[in-house]
Amino acid sequence: MSKIATLEIDGKKYEFPIVEGTENELAIDIKSLRASSNVITLDPGYKNTGSCESAITFLDGEKGILRYRGYSIEELADKASFLEVCFLLIFGELPTQEELSKFHKDIKGQSIVDEDMKRILDGFPKSAHPMGVLASLTNALVAFNPSSVNVDSEEDMYKAIVKILGKFPVLVAWTMRKKMSLPLNYGDTSLGYVENIHKMMFQQPNEDYKVDRTFIEALDKLLILHADHEQNCSTSTVRIVGSSHSGLFASLSAGIAALWGPLHGGANQAVIEMLEAIKADGGDTSKFILKAKDKNDPFRLMGFGHRVYKNFDPRAKIIKKAADEVLGELGIEDPILDIAKGLEKVALEDEYFISRNLYPNVDFYSGIIYRALGIPTDMFTVMFALGRLPGWIAQWKEMRLGKEPIGRPRQVYTGYTHRAFKTRSER
Ligand code: CMC
Repeated sequence: MSKIATLEIDGKKYEFPIVEGTENELAIDIKSLRASSNVITLDPGYKNTGSCESAITFLDGEKGILRYRGYSIEELADKASFLEVCFLLIFGELPTQEELSKFHKDIKGQSIVDEDMKRILDGFPKSAHPMGVLASLTNALVAFNPSSVNVDSEEDMYKAIVKILGKFPVLVAWTMRKKMSLPLNYGDTSLGYVENIHKMMFQQPNEDYKVDRTFIEALDKLLILHADHEQNCSTSTVRIVGSSHSGLFASLSAGIAALWGPLHGGANQAVIEMLEAIKADGGDTSKFILKAKDKNDPFRLMGFGHRVYKNFDPRAKIIKKAADEVLGELGIEDPILDIAKGLEKVALEDEYFISRNLYPNVDFYSGIIYRALGIPTDMFTVMFALGRLPGWIAQWKEMRLGKEPIGRPRQVYTGYTHRAFKTRSER
């Protein structure tokens, strides 16, 4: 029998159905709340609000579980390739070899960007943050691909999806190469998806491209770990922008802007900057723990805490192990890895962090790997965006195919009540 929630306001009772997900999560369906009671709910930051029903990613913050389309993140990171995960997230099933080959071929067929895009990139100062540049270039793609996607046409949707999966890595590589004063190049259709990203980012103009297995395997894993995370800030942004029927590329551009912030994807850059600051200060981690606990100090332990994970972040566990492996394989001894481990140890034994369930999140160790791979610090969040791309696409597609209404929250107004207009001389 379906469950019902009863709400009583001023002695009058209202009943609402309780929706149950496939993992037994319960939600009170309040769609009829305002129409029946003239009351709304208030939930800043949406801490208790489900914005949609979704069949893409399952996350249990208490148990530290993350699954894409039912497959555990641990197994996917271990056994799948990023391109397979893209297909899985966007189309719902792991691809057969034939489907994967066609998908890759179609993406490669879309991996040229209009030459005029270079002129747009040229207009940015070298000092511009890569996330701002990437968001702008992604939006600029709309101008070069103006036909709107007919979401009811499977073919149209597919074309838009492979187009962005083909062109986005070019924009990522160009964003970095512009900063590094390297010529803007193209990939090579004979290479794998992540191999090609490596080539586009790092090929020197006077050398042949050399495949770097350590780089490719590490990046593939990181991209998988970042590929989706249900209704986080940037994904919700993509869905809400797309809900006004803005196009896919414009919605993705908004998602990139949301990801940029240090409380979200920008934390990976902020973590390295924090670890560097601790190192420069002599390496005393307890001093920074004290700062993080001081409510009068704006400092937060970057890479710690999560809105949903209250036990551990399964991605952080995998990344911590990968950081050891990658640095070991590359023969790199990075003192900030030791500082990070020391900081984690102190924090996990501290009452402040224990009582608030604050654990290292995905961003705590990822920057250490990016750095070991030679990726500049201000490109870290761009790499996150590259990984999150299939998740954003899958969520946008689900939202559009689900015919979701325009996202439009309400508010409780707390400003002036009506007042008479004052002429300029009366003010
Ligand atoms: N350092 C110190 N105190 C913290 C931290 C932190 N990193 N994170 C949370 N707290 C405290 C916070 O001050 C609050 O304390 P109190 O109850 O005394 O007021 C309590 O823990 C709960 O925090 P909150 O800010 O209400 O939690 P939230 O769910 O709104 O925020 C968060 C989640 C991720 C924004 C936050 O933990 C944070 O700012 N972390 C640092 C930034 C970071 O690493 N972000 C990456 C998140 S994971 C990847 C991603 O989203 O892309």
